Amino acid sequence: MVVFNRSAAIGQILRRCHRAVAEKNNNKLTCYHGRWPSAELKDFEQHMRIIPDFISEVEEQQLHEEVEPYMSRLRYEFDHWDDAIHGFRETERKKWYPNNRQVLERVRQAAFEGAIMSYVHVLDLAAEGVIKPHVDSTRYCGNTISGISLLSDSVMRLVRTSAAKYKQRSGSDGSAKVVSDNAEEDAYRHQPETKLENNFYADLLLPRRSLYIMSHSARYNFTHEILANEHSKFLGNAINKTRRISIICRNDP
Ligand code: OGA
Ligand code: MN
Repeated sequence: MVVFNRSAAIGQILRRCHRAVAEKNNNKLTCYHGRWPSAELKDFEQHMRIIPDFISEVEEQQLHEEVEPYMSRLRYEFDHWDDAIHGFRETERKKWYPNNRQVLERVRQAAFEGAIMSYVHVLDLAAEGVIKPHVDSTRYCGNTISGISLLSDSVMRLVRTSAAKYKQRSGSDGSAKVVSDNAEEDAYRHQPETKLENNFYADLLLPRRSLYIMSHSARYNFTHEILANEHSKFLGNAINKTRRISIICRNDP
């Protein structure tokens, strides 16, 4: 009699994942799934980075204190099922207190080659909120997106998009750029279909107070999403996502 031993199979997958992670001693926060072509993997490692403890607890508190009075007056939006984000409230902020401005300048230096957009995006995701797989529009956003996570750990998943949907052309900086070929043009976040089977993707643990930097191929050729709490796992461990505020910097297209 053949008995499928589920826990043994899961154990094997986890060990594989652990090994893949252990081999990369520069970044233990990424878990690769599926068969990654080696050139893609190399490219991804370069263009999707996480810096743990980018801000201190005090800096986290100062950022939170600056945005909370405004944020707490908005209501979380859950209404539109076709939207990329559920259970969120958001704003853009241009003027920051000096301490927080210093943090943003550090982000700019760590993540960007030049200037960042003067409006910084603040996204408050409720504990039960979710960011579904999407690609930020190439019309409104340049080659780099960075995010500081406040208040909660979370798991971000990046899934390779289908080349048929997103065409490649060469950007002026020599990087691959994506051109949308359909009427989604105006949407701030495009939601191409993603599949995990016969594909490759990465799960990233975004610890509270970390900075992620998603640029070039990682930004154009992959969807990104924040897993809902019930799916929020990293290396087999549940990652309890509570309310999370992200401070997101982008550059111009
Ligand atoms: C977005 C997004 C990620 C984050 O707002 O488009 O992907 O870190 N946010 O909150
Ligand atoms: Mn996005």
